Amino acid sequence: MISTRCPPIENVTTLTGDFTTPFMHEKVRSLIGGEVNIVVCDAAPKFSGNKSYDQARAVGLSEEACDFAVDFLKPGGNFVVKTFQGDMFQLILDKMRLNFFGGVKVYRSKAARKGSTEVYIIGKKFKGRRNDSEG
Ligand SMILES: C[S@@+](CC[C@H](N)C(=O)[O-])C[C@H]1O[C@@H](n2cnc3c(N)ncnc32)[C@H](O)[C@@H]1O
Repeated sequence: MISTRCPPIENVTTLTGDFTTPFMHEKVRSLIGGEVNIVVCDAAPKFSGNKSYDQARAVGLSEEACDFAVDFLKPGGNFVVKTFQGDMFQLILDKMRLNFFGGVKVYRSKAARKGSTEVYIIGKKFKGRRNDSEG
């Protein structure tokens, strides 16, 4: 688990830091030492109150999470990421659909606040990194 702040959880290794940094990337790589079946990202930026700005930042973070997942998933693996619907939403959806996953669905949780645009994108059957197939 990577978080910017999190209390210890039994049987869970927690790394505290910004997952978008090369430093955290390398920390995760050395910890897991291989590929994983699933990456789940519930991160969200601190919202400013400016809707379109916040939505763009949230989608940017989801794209970073997708890049992170692509680096660590094994082919056939799955990726779940929280994001927010709006102007930039199609970007992350297309990125996942066209480049990386065999199936992509959008899921809105019943727990989401009324009026909130929060959704989860579920990418299934990771196609593998491009250079994996290029040999
Ligand atoms: C909606 S909260 C979800 C928290 C978590 N699911 C929980 O139940 O505690 C979003 C979290 O994403 C974290 N976050 C945002 N950007 C991040 C990043 N680049 N790296 C790591 N965590 C990040 C924030 O600090 C915040 O705690």
